Amino acid sequence: MTSAAKRAWARPDGRAQLFQADSRDLGQIPSASVGIILTSPPYWVSNRGRPAAEHYARQLAVGFGREWRRVLVPDGDLWLVLGDRHNGREWVGFDSLIAGWLRRTGWRLQSKGIWAETGSRERWDNRINYLLRFARAGRRVRPTAATLCWMLPLPRTHPASIWDATPEPVLRALILQSRRRGPVLDPFCGAGTVGRVALGLGREWIGVERDPRMAELTARRLGMTRALD
Ligand SMILES: C[S@@+](CC[C@H](N)C(=O)[O-])C[C@H]1O[C@@H](n2cnc3c(N)ncnc32)[C@H](O)[C@@H]1O
Repeated sequence: MTSAAKRAWARPDGRAQLFQADSRDLGQIPSASVGIILTSPPYWVSNRGRPAAEHYARQLAVGFGREWRRVLVPDGDLWLVLGDRHNGREWVGFDSLIAGWLRRTGWRLQSKGIWAETGSRERWDNRINYLLRFARAGRRVRPTAATLCWMLPLPRTHPASIWDATPEPVLRALILQSRRRGPVLDPFCGAGTVGRVALGLGREWIGVERDPRMAELTARRLGMTRALD
């Protein structure tokens, strides 16, 4: 384990690893070793206007995206689950801001889908979550017949989690659309929902989570024990 990770866990069968770390530095993961990155970063909730939203999008694409590029294999898939937000004055268009910043840093948007939350108390337009698939510039993903569109209730959050999760059928479909080999990485893994789904599909999984309580919860949920550090 490198100095970037404070603690690490692994499954006894070796199929999953978890690091408590800030995922701007993925030093514990070798270059070009990950098949899919599938993640839901913390949604942008500030009402401080467009410059703050631009800053957040740039931060995600540049501050985190640099390491995504390094660890993903050249033909790997990057999936982001992102909600857009109204900032009190206008609709921010957050998904386009992110796609724009990722474009500037060498990624191309290849697929766009939607999961709309039913039964949510959010204002109606905040219930839409975009499913954005990026590939490195120069690689084109052939479209499939699948329509990436779901209306599903917000899954019941694990009682010890403070975050909303993405519905498992959505995550399953995204993984099945993606590169078939290589571990699935979630650099904002929260309570580990992506890990549960990836392992259920027979994939290996790597999670990174900054919050020690969430990392411990994920380790428990996925049957992981502390790795030597
Ligand atoms: C939207 S939640 C993810 C929810 C997750 N999909 C689930 O199933 O629970 C985002 C997570 O990213 C974590 N996070 C925020 N900044 C981070 C960073 N710099 N490095 C690693 N994790 C971070 C938060 O602590 C939070 O658990």
